[in-house]
Amino acid sequence: MKYLIGIDLGTSGTKTVLFDEDGNTIKSHTVEYPMSQPQNGWAEQNPEDWYNAAIQTLRYVTQDIDASQIAGIGIAGQMHSLVMLDENDEIIRPAILWCDGRTGKECEEITERIGYDKLIEITANPALTGFTASKILWVRNNEPENYARCRHILLPKDYVRFKLTGEYATEVSDASGMQLLDIANRCWSDEILDKLEIDKSMLATVYESPEITGYITDEAARLTGVPAGTPVVGGAGDNAAAAVGTGVVEDGKAFATIGTSGVVFAHTKEMCVDPKGRVHTFCCAVPGEWHTMGVTLAAGLSLKWFRDNFCTEEISVAKSMGVDPYYIMDKEAEQSPIGCNRLIYLPYLMAERTPHLDPNCRGGFIGLSAMHTKRDMLRAVMEGVVYSLRDCCEVLKEMDIIPNEIAACGGGGSSPLWRGMLADVLGVSVNTVTSKEGPALGVAILAGVGAGIYADVRDGCRRVIKTKTQQEPNAENEVEYKKYYEVYRMLYPALKDSFNILANK
Ligand code: XUL
Repeated sequence: MKYLIGIDLGTSGTKTVLFDEDGNTIKSHTVEYPMSQPQNGWAEQNPEDWYNAAIQTLRYVTQDIDASQIAGIGIAGQMHSLVMLDENDEIIRPAILWCDGRTGKECEEITERIGYDKLIEITANPALTGFTASKILWVRNNEPENYARCRHILLPKDYVRFKLTGEYATEVSDASGMQLLDIANRCWSDEILDKLEIDKSMLATVYESPEITGYITDEAARLTGVPAGTPVVGGAGDNAAAAVGTGVVEDGKAFATIGTSGVVFAHTKEMCVDPKGRVHTFCCAVPGEWHTMGVTLAAGLSLKWFRDNFCTEEISVAKSMGVDPYYIMDKEAEQSPIGCNRLIYLPYLMAERTPHLDPNCRGGFIGLSAMHTKRDMLRAVMEGVVYSLRDCCEVLKEMDIIPNEIAACGGGGSSPLWRGMLADVLGVSVNTVTSKEGPALGVAILAGVGAGIYADVRDGCRRVIKTKTQQEPNAENEVEYKKYYEVYRMLYPALKDSFNILANK
């Protein structure tokens, strides 16, 4: 039996998983790293932390196995974040992350240079602060000395790929989020690059996700324990990878994930674009097909923020019980009723994409009273995140993308409370798959396709993905949540101007 490896380079850490050909997890290891926020609304990481985490986790999963049986590696990565390398392949500055909102002016510049309609026609999306193009322009406008030194522009997983294989390569799903790709034709857009005056030679070669992009070098083999010559396939952006890892590879299927960000992702065989740009249309990991997804920026990040700032007690109880702090937090939140005694949380800690596209909005607890307890606040955070996912679904519905059922994944997918909320608030059946590894499993399947173990992506999914539980919406809860969702929907328009004033103080 051959092995396949999936590396999932996330925002809170990198997880590497060794699978067998049937998708069973043999070994898994995660290494965490920090995110720095040098200013309100900024977010950066050190790419070296990603590479070190990849080395450590690969070393861990390859220990005490017959490494010659590793048939291939796939990498999934946080999308959009900008890595710049100089002529010696040295990192020029910290990576500017997907959830960094500093590039409002550059988005205006992009729209002016290209034109709103042309931008949607070619990149299928309006200029967004989260996407890579505006980050490149920000460096050019604000740090010209750094821009002048830049020779290579890479996405996070593609930087790790470069370190492992020596190749400057990317693949269509992640490249879609750079806003430099012609989404319909799955190649760099010369027109966009010319108008933005970005030199194409700085960009990586674009592959389809299951294609082999390079092989483990001798140096990487020495550091990781993976034999030199092991193929590394394109892999995918974390969401496209999670889609493969949950079997969302055909029309009618969708998943909702609560990781650092929250996403509702639907597969579409044909390309389908929201003219208002509230959801993203990208190439997916199935060659020649696409997906549409809504993104809420601070999903799991909201709960992590709450844990780190207000849950010292829960953290120490969890430690003494040998369980995850989130398990204790779930139990606490369960004791507050639906609607949290009339408290609503807005999850805009890192601003918001779907549906508001507003880099200036921020989070809030609305309706806070002296009777509220931490339990209410905890539950409100969870409910607010799910309301923002409902916002994503509403846009998909307007586009006639109506999934039959939704798979729940990411950290939030493993919380029964959060899964129940998803079913009740979205009003659909929510299922989970037996493997918890989402993006890591997805890219391992892609590696299996590249290595010839599976005929294609759908064949890999058929052989590996098994659905576990199905949670049906509870009619009474649905009615109750709807009342609060309606208030939630009214809050952003009411607060929009105040957010703008605050942002410009
Ligand atoms: C997607 C997005 C996030 C990141 C998180 O557009 O920005 O989901 O990929 O890792």
